[in-house]
Amino acid sequence: MEIDGNTLVLVFVFLFILYSNPSGDGVTSQYEYNQLQTLKAQYQDEYSQFQNLTSDNNFRNITGLRLSYGDVLRNPDINATYPIEGKDYDHWYSDEKYTLLPEDVLHEVNNSVWQHGKNVYPANLTSTLHGRVVNSHGNYLKVPMPIPEYYEPAQDLSQNQPAFNEPYFTDPAGREAARNITFDEGEIVIEISSADTTSSFFEDEHHFHNSQSDKLRFLHMNLHFSDPAYNEKHVINTKAIYDIKNGRIMAISESAKFHSLFALPHYINLKSEDEAFFNAVKTLVEEYWNATDFVNTRSMAYLQDSYATANFKCEFLAFLQLEPWWGYSQEQLKIVDEELMWPLGRRANLSSLPPVNISSGIIYSPDCGIKLQVSNAHGLRYELQVRKMRKLLLCGALLLASQIYLLLSQMQHTNTPSMVNKISYWCFSLMNLVDGSLAIIFFVLTSSIPVLYLPLIMCSFACLILASVFEIRYLISVYASQANEQSVGIMTLLRRSTEGEERRTPTVMPDEASISTSLYRTYIVKMFFSMIVILSMTTWPQSVRMPIECIIIFLLNSYWVPQIARNAIKGNEPRRRQIFANDGPQHQRQNKMPLLWSFTIGTSVIRFVPVAYVYTVPSNVFYHHQDRLFVAVVALWLVLQMGVLYSQEIIGARWFLPNYSIPEGYSYHKGISSGELLEHGSSANYTIDCAICMTDVAVYVDDIDETHKVDKDSYMVTPCGHIFHTQCLENWMSYKLQCPVCRAPLPPL
Ligand SMILES: *[C@@H]1O[C@H](CO)[C@@H](O)[C@H](O)[C@H]1NC(C)=O
Ligand SMILES: *[C@@H]1O[C@H](CO)[C@@H](O)[C@H](O)[C@H]1NC(C)=O
Ligand SMILES: *[C@@H]1O[C@H](CO)[C@@H](O)[C@H](O)[C@H]1NC(C)=O
Ligand SMILES: *[C@@H]1O[C@H](CO)[C@@H](O)[C@H](O)[C@H]1NC(C)=O
Ligand SMILES: *[C@@H]1O[C@H](CO)[C@@H](O)[C@H](O)[C@H]1NC(C)=O
Ligand SMILES: *[C@@H]1O[C@H](CO)[C@@H](O)[C@H](O)[C@H]1NC(C)=O
Ligand SMILES: *[C@@H]1O[C@H](CO)[C@@H](O)[C@H](O)[C@H]1NC(C)=O
Ligand SMILES: *[C@@H]1O[C@H](CO)[C@@H](O)[C@H](O)[C@H]1NC(C)=O
Ligand SMILES: *[C@@H]1O[C@H](CO)[C@@H](O)[C@H](O)[C@H]1NC(C)=O
Ligand SMILES: *[C@@H]1O[C@H](CO)[C@@H](O)[C@H](O)[C@H]1NC(C)=O
Ligand SMILES: *[C@@H]1O[C@H](CO)[C@@H](O)[C@H](O)[C@H]1NC(C)=O
Ligand SMILES: [Zn+2]
Repeated sequence: MEIDGNTLVLVFVFLFILYSNPSGDGVTSQYEYNQLQTLKAQYQDEYSQFQNLTSDNNFRNITGLRLSYGDVLRNPDINATYPIEGKDYDHWYSDEKYTLLPEDVLHEVNNSVWQHGKNVYPANLTSTLHGRVVNSHGNYLKVPMPIPEYYEPAQDLSQNQPAFNEPYFTDPAGREAARNITFDEGEIVIEISSADTTSSFFEDEHHFHNSQSDKLRFLHMNLHFSDPAYNEKHVINTKAIYDIKNGRIMAISESAKFHSLFALPHYINLKSEDEAFFNAVKTLVEEYWNATDFVNTRSMAYLQDSYATANFKCEFLAFLQLEPWWGYSQEQLKIVDEELMWPLGRRANLSSLPPVNISSGIIYSPDCGIKLQVSNAHGLRYELQVRKMRKLLLCGALLLASQIYLLLSQMQHTNTPSMVNKISYWCFSLMNLVDGSLAIIFFVLTSSIPVLYLPLIMCSFACLILASVFEIRYLISVYASQANEQSVGIMTLLRRSTEGEERRTPTVMPDEASISTSLYRTYIVKMFFSMIVILSMTTWPQSVRMPIECIIIFLLNSYWVPQIARNAIKGNEPRRRQIFANDGPQHQRQNKMPLLWSFTIGTSVIRFVPVAYVYTVPSNVFYHHQDRLFVAVVALWLVLQMGVLYSQEIIGARWFLPNYSIPEGYSYHKGISSGELLEHGSSANYTIDCAICMTDVAVYVDDIDETHKVDKDSYMVTPCGHIFHTQCLENWMSYKLQCPVCRAPLPPL
């Protein structure tokens, strides 16, 4: 390819757009610049107040922390201003006069959530926990948390300077209803990740900034809670301090109306009022501030994001207590941690490692007056979860390999056109759809779970090979062998003849190249649509998704139904009769069922196992809801389909069809009239040339008695009127279902 000037200019423009903003703060106007400067100045001011803060000092002029619950109790219409008349700024006690929490929440935190007495707790909590949450519908006052006005976007283009007032009134009611939590009991997912290392934009190396990592950890926690039906979802991103000695976690959300970073030391120290501990946490926050270069890295995106969060979400404080790891000592924990990070085979019992377990907790929202109780939120350590998933993926890859093996032996079994002709196109098309979609799902997952990149890619590749090489090849040969039935009605097919249909000009049978082109085209279109459906389904509400998912899985597990229909159309003889009418290997072979039993049973099992895993194992890695009844229904449905297939083999493929619907099939063995004989230019001996072996065929002519000693089974008359030896045409038909003379389609035997 030649690179001309235009391309170069385009590349430069692109690079310019990409890198035009080296500071990366995303400012696009004078107004936004002023907004961001105001934000930075305010944070800087609040940080210098924070530096002055001691364990018995109240917060002063920090956004979101100007009022306490007691202030609101005293005067419900109070404005969040500073300073407030008569407020005590020079002391700090853990009661409702000083904190954002009402007395009973404080009491609950001290007496039923936080455990007293030292124990051993895991140091690194990186994991995802699942648990229950109960809404206690307490009747709490709401502490006003106004959003500073400068956060608001510009009213018009001419505005340069943001307004600096703080609107001292509470939010409109509509917004409040939108973020209300109305369910009584729900599920909570807590994602915990370590924030002790920060990576800067330019260098890839991680800077460790926690000098007290033996007793304190700085965490990022995302709390997702929802009702069991997933109609109402709430996501809170918080920063948290983890007190390793006591197993306590205190997490606070952050937004434009709540600069909560500065509240961490006071609130984790709640009720213990320990000055050394307060100072340790304060140092940790300062280290975080320094290491992230907090003020200078605030960007426009951060500002807009925290404005949106402030508008549409409640602020939350979460007080959580970990379950101790009984029976472990500090040294053992250290070994476990090292082994998890760099697996060398140390003596650590990784498989018997207890889960990270938040045994109790309270989540309280001061500005919405909501209290939630968390219980039994547990999950495996991140590395163990990853190992579990890796093992599962390996099992999946094994299943895929055995599916490929079974498919290959099935293809081997049906290696003639007559046999392939009995295979249902739709049966394999359905399997192909599932396997292709799986390839897409595995591939999409690689981007969301990067640690599992290799096993996921392996599974995706195996699915892709299975779907787009083996299955498509098989589909092509099935399609090619059935191409002449395309425009034939179902009744005609049942009759096994093309008689009565308007005799079309013998269609040119499509060759394999054009069939494979068109099949690959439909395959790609199918994959495209299933990708869209899969991706959009993940965003549907659970109440809609669940029934649809069940219906889709049920339908996708009906893959033997098309084969049952196909068998009925082809009309196998029952096995009993085959044994009695033992007329040579030819007939034996033609009456064999097209599907290998090992393939049928193996495929059913391979495709059923993942469904059963996802729907019945409570600790499945997808955290899918459990539904044993549905799994039983699917299993019964598969067994029923296989039972019908078996019965077709034993008592005939059409046993379930009423008598009248089975017309006579086309008979290749019949007498001809003398007129037809003449058309073939017969010799004196009433014989006709067989076009295959070029020798004579004696025929039975209805109106000439001399010929009646000829056995009608020794020759075959095609629908197009050509006559061959039985042996010759049967051999021919196992390769092509076309008349050797005029290429008209032949009804299969
Ligand atoms: C409190 O903080 C706000 C915003 O940072 C500032 O505008 C105001 O002047 C401060 N009040 C006092 C009394 O310092
Ligand atoms: C911090 O404390 C010192 C001494 O008490 C005082 O002079 C200074 O103004 C305080 N800084 C802030 C931001 O309040
Ligand atoms: C709160 O602020 C509003 C508007 O500035 C004012 O009208 C109201 O009187 C204030 N309330 C109190 C209790 O100071
Ligand atoms: C905790 O574990 C995670 C996951 O292995 C790791 O990325 C992180 O660095 C660990 N944190 C510490 C402080 O060791
Ligand atoms: C929030 O939901 C509760 C029911 O759980 C209801 O009683 C309350 O009125 C709602 N609050 C708002 C502001 O809609
Ligand atoms: C917190 O609870 C413990 C024991 O449950 C008690 O000893 C302590 O006094 C309480 N602290 C406060 C400040 O109430
Ligand atoms: C943060 O940085 C400032 C200035 O760079 C320094 O004086 C201070 O000691 C640092 N704080 C901590 C806790 O490292
Ligand atoms: C480690 O596992 C073995 C066998 O699973 C068990 O006997 C042993 O008690 C375990 N040790 C610890 C410290 O849990
Ligand atoms: C988590 O801790 C609670 C309280 O001790 C306990 O009841 C629960 O069984 C624990 N969960 C797990 C999975 O160990
Ligand atoms: C179906 O047809 C066969 C012969 O065509 C006959 O022997 C049999 O009795 C019929 N069965 C029924 C249920 O009509
Ligand atoms: C015709 O039949 C006679 C006797 O019936 C036989 O001798 C002769 O070979 C036959 N001709 C052909 C071409 O088969
Ligand atoms: Zn012949």
